[in-house]
Amino acid sequence: MKFFIDTANLDQIKEAQDLGILDGVTTNPSLMAKEGITGKENILEHYQAICEIVTGDVSAEVIATDLEGMIREGEELANLHEQIVIKLPMIEDGVKACKYFSEQDIKTNVTLVFSPGQAILAAKAGATYVSPFIGRLDDISTDGLNLIGEIRMIYDNYGFETQILAASIRHTMHIIDCAKLRADVITSPLSSIMGLLKHPLTDIGLEKFLADYKKGN
Ligand code: G3P
Repeated sequence: MKFFIDTANLDQIKEAQDLGILDGVTTNPSLMAKEGITGKENILEHYQAICEIVTGDVSAEVIATDLEGMIREGEELANLHEQIVIKLPMIEDGVKACKYFSEQDIKTNVTLVFSPGQAILAAKAGATYVSPFIGRLDDISTDGLNLIGEIRMIYDNYGFETQILAASIRHTMHIIDCAKLRADVITSPLSSIMGLLKHPLTDIGLEKFLADYKKGN
């Protein structure tokens, strides 16, 4: 399972990269705004800065919602850096744009996916990644993880190669459950990734080992 970090914060991206477990980055307009990155030029520069930190795929989202605009913006983003993946919304023109880019071997990530039907359309359009938002489904009393399982079953039934990128991860158990359900990728805030490290018995055990070592030295 690949680990992506879901942020535009360069320090957090560096921290995950330094841990040696990072396979890529996902961003969206809200995450950019959270870091105070506004204006087209600044946003493009920020994508380049992210690409210089990591070696894997970096999802960059288009703002346009019409086909022509999505193609124009997507091409500009793709030309920015070879690691850029074009992130497209799951709307009618987004599906068309996904097909357009997949025919040109440009990687895509279809985002804002909340149903198995949407995931089928993304795969049919040749998406590299499909991003089901599990936390936002949980927020409205719907089982987000169930969607991961449904998409996995459907993709396996037909050998779809689109990778399931579980997004809107809120805590460590989401990551562990996504691994059980065979998501191809999780994208997560740094806090949930670092949360996987923690176990009180590890801390207690280490303390005891070090104390015992000191007794004999
Ligand atoms: O990358 C988009 C997705 O992960 C959003 O997460 O927490 O805003 O629902 P959240």
